Amino acid sequence: MSPFQLTRTLPENATDAALRADVRQGLTRTPKTLPPKWFYDARGSELFEEITALPEYYPTRAEREILVARADDIAEATRARTLIELGSGSSEKTRHLLDALPGLISYIPVDVSGTALTAAADALLAERPQLAVHALIADFTRELALPASPGPRLVVFLGGTIGNLLPPERAGFLRSVRDLLQPGDHLLLGTDLVKDESVLVPAYDDATGVTAAFNKNVLSVIARELGADFDPADFDHVAVWDRENEWIEMRLRARRAFTVKIPELQLVVPFAAGEEIRTEVSAKFRQERVRTELDAAGLSLHHWWTDPDGRFALSLSGPPARP
Ligand code: SAH
Ligand code: TRP
Repeated sequence: MSPFQLTRTLPENATDAALRADVRQGLTRTPKTLPPKWFYDARGSELFEEITALPEYYPTRAEREILVARADDIAEATRARTLIELGSGSSEKTRHLLDALPGLISYIPVDVSGTALTAAADALLAERPQLAVHALIADFTRELALPASPGPRLVVFLGGTIGNLLPPERAGFLRSVRDLLQPGDHLLLGTDLVKDESVLVPAYDDATGVTAAFNKNVLSVIARELGADFDPADFDHVAVWDRENEWIEMRLRARRAFTVKIPELQLVVPFAAGEEIRTEVSAKFRQERVRTELDAAGLSLHHWWTDPDGRFALSLSGPPARP
């Protein structure tokens, strides 16, 4: 038995039904799309960890720099007794916060990837046996039912993962986070910042092809779960900077014309040569946009911290104080 509590708010068959609905919807529309949460099976989570160590992928290192520099400020401003982390993955960078928060009682990592979550919780408890860890397998874009925990609460959402949501999804997500917070609680949000295309594109299209393998992993997930006869070699990984929307768009481009059979959906999907599936956006932010989007969700920006090179930002916000 695990020494930590593990709750699954997503029934296994909900994941199944959601995957089917997303794949059917995404691959029968024009242009084709797939939602990014399906990247993260065990292999996908492993590949993402490899991405975070790539020389081209600066966001993890930049965000860690800020966390190291500001952990004490964050502790002082929040005095959190519960730390809730959305999309926690390996919880690697979070250690800097866990170490800095003197009154911390409870850590609640939330992720769709059960394998990443249990590995992270196991490792944390080995280091910190006195910490109450309650791991939650859940989809943060759906209803968030969190276990009861002592306040003040600090919700953290790192890695720039908020940029993987489209603007309307982002608005709904921030409102649902706002609804979790009482006066005195906080949101710590990591956002990657707008910068030159010559830095952004290689971060999503590295020289050794790890990112390409990560992007194509979504095809393996669909092949395994729904019996699809995708051949990843039929697709090229594409990362483009969309100047207007200020986001990186990840796509998979068909190298030739072919059809894919998805028996579990009784679906045949035709691809034209050069046709693309949009698999993910990764939005890049400016302070003004972060402030405006937080405001719209009923959260006020209290602090804005960047790394010395101005590549990445952490913002601390919260609901208005009780009148
Ligand atoms: N916070 C870590 C990991 C970022 S990668 C870091 O900063 O390095 C994004 C993480 O979010 C992955 O672990 C993935 O499994 C998780 N994730 C993606 N979509 C999700 C969703 N809809 N609900 C819950 N977790 C999700
Ligand atoms: N949250 C990460 C980001 O937007 C996710 C990510 C990194 C990613 N590299 C990727 C998603 C490559 C798809 C493909 O930076």
